[in-house]
Amino acid sequence: MAKPIRKAVFPVAGLGTRFLPATKAIPKEMLPIIDRPLIQYAVDEAREAGIEQLIFVTGRGKTSIVEHFDHAFELEATMTGRDKSLDVLEPTRIQPGNLVTVRQQVPMGLGHAIWCARAIVGDEPFAIFLPDELMIAHAAGHPSGSTGCMKQMVEAYEEVGGNLISVLEVPEEEVSSYGVIAPGRRGLGRDGALTEVTALVEKPKREEAPSNLIISGRYILQPEVMRVLENQGKGAGGEIQLTDAMARMIGQQPFHAVTFAGRRFDCGSKAGFVEATLTLALEREDMADDVRAIMQKLA
Ligand code: G1P
Repeated sequence: MAKPIRKAVFPVAGLGTRFLPATKAIPKEMLPIIDRPLIQYAVDEAREAGIEQLIFVTGRGKTSIVEHFDHAFELEATMTGRDKSLDVLEPTRIQPGNLVTVRQQVPMGLGHAIWCARAIVGDEPFAIFLPDELMIAHAAGHPSGSTGCMKQMVEAYEEVGGNLISVLEVPEEEVSSYGVIAPGRRGLGRDGALTEVTALVEKPKREEAPSNLIISGRYILQPEVMRVLENQGKGAGGEIQLTDAMARMIGQQPFHAVTFAGRRFDCGSKAGFVEATLTLALEREDMADDVRAIMQKLA
């Protein structure tokens, strides 16, 4: 039986330059979609999937991410004194010892960031979340179910083991911004959401891309990837690419892509961020009517 996925790595050392000046003093991962910072959505998704240990690969200026998941003594004492419920803070509570940080001293790419977590990952399969990619399950009652992306991946992992990445289709002109898969057999797995991965390319030119299926920021990888990353040379953009290391594992271990039944927002872009904010606001009982009225006025 496959070892359970208990650990997840969150690379959060990025400088967030696309969101300057907002991200000058605040980590990009702390920008809120309504009232929850981006990182919270990724952590919620991890917990729904049964993941216990959170490993943040951070850097200078990122302390507030860790504070967010700590007790806030003055705040909590004051709220309690005023008879206010602390329930709203529930998602920020981590079991003592289950949040670990390592620093990526220099920005050398996603592959390097993941490699920085090798000692904590140890000899276990593990998950990776890129918090910029906001993966939102369908609303309750949707015919495709309302399971989060990582939980769907963990379920697939229990079937096929090995390595898994989440993928989605993008218009051809966008492939060069992402990692792209070469698909093998499709429609595999219990619900047909699995595709065999036969090759991977990071940020290919449009005309060289093997498909329009891109890696959308969720991974379940075997610990051997750390050994591969150890001597991974620079790839696209002069960075050490996780995609290149994964590509070298194809053929040695099972490698599948999961098409997420749910919604994805690219919160690495400003328009994607606004789209996520509006979409989620329209689903919130406490705001939907107000936001709909605003949108009608604007339209
Ligand atoms: C990273 C990965 C890429 C993936 C993308 C998803 O790229 O390297 O394979 O498709 O995230 O957002 P980045 O956005 O860091 O350039």
